[in-house]
Amino acid sequence: MSGHPAYFERASRVTPGGVHSPVRAFRSVGGAPVFFARGEGARLIDVDGRAYIDFCMSFGPLILGHADPDVRAAAHAAVDDGWSFGACEPYSLALAEWMAGHLPWVERVRFVSSGTEAVMSALRIARAATGRDRILKFEGCYHGHADAMLVKAGSGLAGAAAASSEGITAHTLGDTLVAPLDDDAALDRVFDAFGDTIAAAIVEPLPANYGLLPQRAEWLRHLADRCRRAGALVIFDEVISGFRVGLTGMVGELGASPDLVTYGKVIGGGFPVGGYAGRADLMDRVAPLGSVYQAGTLSANPVGMRAGLATLEKAARVGVWPVLEERTAVFAAALSKGFAAVPGGPEVVRHGSLLWFRRPAPAPVRRIDALAPDQASWYARFFHAALRRGVYLPPAAFEVSFTSLAHDAATLDTAAGALIEAAREAAAP
Ligand SMILES: Cc1ncc(COP(=O)(O)O)c(C=O)c1O
Repeated sequence: MSGHPAYFERASRVTPGGVHSPVRAFRSVGGAPVFFARGEGARLIDVDGRAYIDFCMSFGPLILGHADPDVRAAAHAAVDDGWSFGACEPYSLALAEWMAGHLPWVERVRFVSSGTEAVMSALRIARAATGRDRILKFEGCYHGHADAMLVKAGSGLAGAAAASSEGITAHTLGDTLVAPLDDDAALDRVFDAFGDTIAAAIVEPLPANYGLLPQRAEWLRHLADRCRRAGALVIFDEVISGFRVGLTGMVGELGASPDLVTYGKVIGGGFPVGGYAGRADLMDRVAPLGSVYQAGTLSANPVGMRAGLATLEKAARVGVWPVLEERTAVFAAALSKGFAAVPGGPEVVRHGSLLWFRRPAPAPVRRIDALAPDQASWYARFFHAALRRGVYLPPAAFEVSFTSLAHDAATLDTAAGALIEAAREAAAP
């Protein structure tokens, strides 16, 4: 079995489960995790010097690839200038102005250090602005690990939630409602029963945390419409899709008008940056202007701000989104062709530079109860077969893969060959 069991054993003695974020432990795919020493372009290099073509890409932030030279230069310059002031500086100003200049719905943005914090803060504003307690979220969407978001659909009453983690109070559970994706009738039931108590609905406009589950634009419009009629806010969680599917993210792609939008991943270029943004009248409720408190010792850290701006500026300058769209489409087509020749072979779901490998399904999968029951066991075989051939996929069956600017045609061609062979191996029980 591949991986680095000796390192993992040492790590497990000093860190819960040996990891600082659960998926890294390979529980979903089995075996010991690989320990990586370096990233370079489209590749990760492990502690033994073995290189892998990477499609995990730090779970999405690295749209330009590992150690992109321009981002590296920006981060070096930031370190040379001192890396934390806890005071006003021009770097977050430049990033905020860049975002506001490109995204009309970003009237204000506040930077934090993770997507979780961005979501948590946006929910707080929604509750303050509406004077209501409840938040509606959707089954299969992930919004970070704030208590209110660690819930899944409960049995019984439509909308009632059950905890997906220990340590969540009954009170918190009662404030979070959960509905299935892609279900207009369920949405109507939740709003009919609870509409006047809902502060906001939060949704990943391109759900990418339980496989890739592209939604019908009409369903998203229906959600926005029910929110408006109920006086609830619409929060788009673009932590993955923001600056990944295109410069203007899913808001731009859908022509939507959410009240608040949360960002993370690509805006920090691989450094710990999150942000929440939206209408001035809502955002100006945040301290020090308003009475919604939110703060952070390392918020808008100059290294993250300068690396983030370098990432976005370069992405826009080289036109990364059409390039990734084209290359990833060619890659996905090659994979689909190869997979089709494998009896019971997988399918590729793609949106821009996001890819998901899944068991065949008769129709587009838009909600989690339509997922194949053997997705996880099949993916574990596929993952290890790919790893043995020098391709590193996200180590969990419901995580999506990403391409980057560093994934050139030759790299993708090599990866396609390896993944088609891996699919063949994984198909044989
Ligand atoms: C859509 C979405 N929202 C929020 C988060 C939480 O972000 P972070 O892991 O930076 O806290 C994630 C993380 O994967 C995410 O995918």
